[in-house]
Formats: sequence, structure tokens, C-alpha cells
Amino acid sequence: MLPPPIDQGTVLIIGATGGIGRELSRLLSRRVRTLVLVDRYAERLEPLRDELLARNPTLGVLIHRCDVGSPREVDLLLSYLESHFVRVDVLVNNAAVGDRSLYAEERWGRVEEMLRANVWLPALLTHRLLGPMLERGRGGVLNIGSGAAHFILPGSATFAATQRFLDGFSEALRLEVRERGVTVTRVAPGPLWDEGREDVTGEPAPFFSVSLARCAREALAGFERGEALVYPGFGHRWMMRLLPLLPRGFKRALGRLALRGLRRESLLSPQAPPVRAEPPVLLTGEPSPA
Ligand SMILES: NC(=O)c1ccc[n+]([C@@H]2O[C@H](COP(=O)([O-])OP(=O)(O)OC[C@H]3O[C@@H](n4cnc5c(N)ncnc54)[C@H](OP(=O)(O)O)[C@@H]3O)[C@@H](O)[C@H]2O)c1
Repeated sequence: MLPPPIDQGTVLIIGATGGIGRELSRLLSRRVRTLVLVDRYAERLEPLRDELLARNPTLGVLIHRCDVGSPREVDLLLSYLESHFVRVDVLVNNAAVGDRSLYAEERWGRVEEMLRANVWLPALLTHRLLGPMLERGRGGVLNIGSGAAHFILPGSATFAATQRFLDGFSEALRLEVRERGVTVTRVAPGPLWDEGREDVTGEPAPFFSVSLARCAREALAGFERGEALVYPGFGHRWMMRLLPLLPRGFKRALGRLALRGLRRESLLSPQAPPVRAEPPVLLTGEPSPA
């Protein structure tokens, strides 16, 4: 199996300015010919582009502002790639939206944003970009998911379910395309923290959490080895390998504990306020207003 065409290739990173996306951009900037950086805010994309060009002045960097929750903006992104004759060798699906709310209390707009960013977008972009990769006989799709896929997580019901989609999607796709020169890898990190900056997901658990930089390094190394699944960090990797051995009843008990913990933090009230009625919105339409 050929390694994914990173060196001197063109890599498209969705959600490039956030934690893992930024670290991947930094790592890749020394190796690729062109980076296409996509994120929601131009004010974050421009400094990242300048930083990467300062590291490697010969690098080609394209930046494109896009709210990946909007089908119209995603169409514009696809037109942008076409009009700039961008031949994407590697797609990195890194943008994701999380939740921390009881499902009944969640705004539908938020649920829809999660489904779009975490499910619809990686499915669509992969569908559009995979064909040309297969024609060339080289390519790669790096899906940054989450260890949440493997837990029962009250308070993150939609997020965890979207991560299961990414799990099943990546594994099946990998088998379909690996003999045709395309590598598909899913990364499922646990808690991460930002070296020298604030914690990303609360207090770092010393054994299970790793830095964003290390997460990006391990993600890239696993992708280049053609691994199906990467769990960054020693402690997290072993916990995730042991997890499937636990009975589902035990995982439900862990879920109940997590729910109690959330209620103690008063993040979720046991007496939920009445849910605001919102009209249903079709997934193919524009996101509903906040
Ligand atoms: N950090 C963790 O502890 C952790 C743990 C496990 C898994 N993960 C996974 O790792 C991936 C990246 O996480 P991260 O920590 O690097 O998160 P992050 O800092 O929030 O990065 C995600 C990036 O995607 C962008 N994004 C989100 N919604 C968008 C939208 N609608 N349109 C355009 N861009 C959008 C974010 O932009 P904004 O900043 O504008 O929202 C951000 O730049 C995610 O898939 C996440 O599930 C993270």
C-alpha cells in the first residue's frame, strides 16, 4: 500500500485554525507543496497563513473562509477549488461541533449544525474529492474524530452519535479504496491540552490527555503508516483498546455517573425547562436562525 501523497502534495484542511488543525498545518507546512486552509473566520486564517509562510517561504497557501454549516458556502468552497484548479491529494476533515446539553434542551439549530459539520460535510467533501484521487491512483482522507464515539455520553448524545458515523464511514471506506492507492484514517483523540496555553477540555488528566501538538504528530504518523485508527497518547490508546472488552451494562453505568457529574456541575438541570418549540428544518436547507 502506498503512503498518502503528503510530500509535495496539496492538502486541504477543514477547520484549519482550531487546535488540531493548526498543529497539522504547522507540521505539513514543511513538507507539502500547497496547503488549502478553510475555516469560519478570515481574521484567524490570515495570521495562520502568515505564520506558515514565515516558516516556509516556498509553500503555496490558499485560504478560504467558509461556514461549513451552510450548504451554500460549501458549494462556494467547491467552486473555489475548481476555479483555482486545486487538485486535492489529501483531505483533512477536522471541523467539528460539540454539545454539552440534554438533548431535549438543545436548540434544533445547534443539533443541525452538529449534523452538518460532523456528518454531512465529511461525507460530501469525501464524495466530491475521492473520485479524482481514485483516478490518479493516489490520495488520502484523514478524518479527525473523537474517542467519544466509543462511550455512552449523556449531555453529548448528538456529538457522540456523529462520531460513530465517522467511525463506520471511515472503516468501510478504507476497505473500499485502499487497494486503489487511497489511504483513509480516523483519529479518535481523548482529552487534549494546548502547550503553553489554556486547557482545551478542562483539567488535563495526566495519564490520558496529550498535547494538541503530540496529537497532530501521532495522527500524521499513523496516517502515513496507513493505519485505520489512531488513538493519540499512550494512556488513551490503552484505555480505548480495553474499552471494547467491557460489557455494555458497564458502559451504561459509566454514562449514569457522567450524567450525575454534569448535574453536580449544574451544567444540566435535573428539572429541565420546557423545550422551546421550533419548526423542523430540512437538512438540505440553510441552517435555522439561532
Ligand atoms: N480538543 C479536544 O479535546 C478533542 C478531543 C477529541 C476529539 N477532538 C476532535 O478534534 C477535532 C478538532 O478539534 P479541536 O480541538 O482542534 O477543535 P477546535 O479548536 O474547535 O477546531 C475545530 C475547527 O473547526 C472550525 N469549525 C467549527 N465549526 C465550523 C463551521 N461551522 N465552519 C467552519 N469552521 C468551523 C473551528 O472554528 P471556530 O473556532 O470558529 O469554531 C475550529 O477552527 C474535532 O473533530 C474534535 O471533535 C478534539
